[in-house]
Amino acid sequence: MDINNIFKNNEEWVQSKLDVDSNYFDNLSKGQSPDILYIGCSDSRVTAEELMGVSPGEAFVHRNIANMVPNTDLNSMSVINYAVAHLKVSHVVVCGHYYCGGVKAAMESQDLGLLNPWLRNIRDVYRTHKEELMGISDDESRYKRLVELNVAEQCINVIKTAEVQKAFRSRGIQVHGWVFDIHSGKLIDLNINYSEIMKNVMEIYHLE
Ligand code: CO
Repeated sequence: MDINNIFKNNEEWVQSKLDVDSNYFDNLSKGQSPDILYIGCSDSRVTAEELMGVSPGEAFVHRNIANMVPNTDLNSMSVINYAVAHLKVSHVVVCGHYYCGGVKAAMESQDLGLLNPWLRNIRDVYRTHKEELMGISDDESRYKRLVELNVAEQCINVIKTAEVQKAFRSRGIQVHGWVFDIHSGKLIDLNINYSEIMKNVMEIYHLE
């Protein structure tokens, strides 16, 4: 890729927006009021806005390796705090994807240095769901299932935060677990049983 093409692409993009609406960037500069917080993987094949068909201003986005929400990660915790308590988003989405390199790495025994503590969070998901995963003999099916279970566990981590619990009680904020299937391009809603999780999580993690 010629990096200089990026600036040419940008000029064309600016023009394409102005062709439709000459005030497009004036309006964009006035502020943001997104309705969705999207937490996804950094994987270059899994875009945020493009796969959801949303425009600039519609989604607050956080991406990291394997769409993780570790409870001590200041980065993802700050994003959730800002999006929920200040931008007042109505939906928090954790979107994983099949063929995720981070999840794959966590299923293998290789020492990956600095990445180890990050991937350990995914290994913890594996340990939590060991029985179910060990019962899947096909490697690819087991790998896909870990992707789904990781999304569900990260949704639980979202629900553990005080801001999300407060927003759930005061205005019914919703948390969604999705998987993007790179092979078909389709988004799959895992239909996580939200009220059931909320009840179980609240038994232990309830915050006023
Ligand atoms: Co990934």
